[in-house]
Amino acid sequence: MKNFHPDKIRAFQDEIMEWWEENARDLPWRRDTSPYNVLVSEMMLQQTQVCRVIPKFLEFIDVFPTLESLGDADIKSVLQLWSGLGYNRRALWLRDAARAIIERGGFPEEVEELEELKGIGPYTSRSILIFAFNKDIATIDTNIRRVFIASGFADECMTKSELQEVGERLLLRGRSRDWHNALMDYGSDVLTSAATGVRAVSQQTQYEGSSRQLRGAVVRILSESHPLTIQELADNVDCDLRNLDDLRKGLAALIDEGLVEKTSEECFRIPR
Ligand code: ADE
Repeated sequence: MKNFHPDKIRAFQDEIMEWWEENARDLPWRRDTSPYNVLVSEMMLQQTQVCRVIPKFLEFIDVFPTLESLGDADIKSVLQLWSGLGYNRRALWLRDAARAIIERGGFPEEVEELEELKGIGPYTSRSILIFAFNKDIATIDTNIRRVFIASGFADECMTKSELQEVGERLLLRGRSRDWHNALMDYGSDVLTSAATGVRAVSQQTQYEGSSRQLRGAVVRILSESHPLTIQELADNVDCDLRNLDDLRKGLAALIDEGLVEKTSEECFRIPR
């Protein structure tokens, strides 16, 4: 990897931070950066756009303002609030993370400890520590990667660990939280994908007609109703259902994930 001249790094940091002083986005999870708020927002922001997360985050924090209130919640009520964000298992992982953190007796402050929680990988664990504790480590999302590439510090073929190393070298030490917020805002408002032509590494697959859409529809119905038979589910899902077999496969996947369980009466429901 190229060695960047310290002057070049400093100039880049100055450019980003000067822009940010005037243009920072006012996002609700930046107002109160308690570890709990950051955990909730980062789980929601995985694979869901900022504009869709904002109202959901506010509603969620209103209903579950603390780790303890979320830990006490049943999955059904968490899923109802999650509705519209997609990837429902994140809701289950978040509730379970709250329970695990309460049980261990304190919020984890190390990457490895956070990564022990289901649904929290290398990106999210670092993001949480940066935004909650201003920890001097780097994290790379699509916006940050694009900013690095468009600014000549990275190229499109770099691996995750190479990008991570670039992130560590460019980090504005002592101001990790501001730095990452600034990079994300710069990527979202200035060095956009349209402006730079830099494409994201992985694109989401089409939702319409997918098995993910069917699973989402099943979870939505079950989180608003009593247990249902497979036929009742088939009659009520609000997406094109080609055959019962697709529904059976979807249910099996949801049971596997812990989002659905089968009752002794051959009905399906959301577990507690
Ligand atoms: N995407 C993931 N985390 C984010 C954050 N804290 N702010 C804006 N976008 C994000």
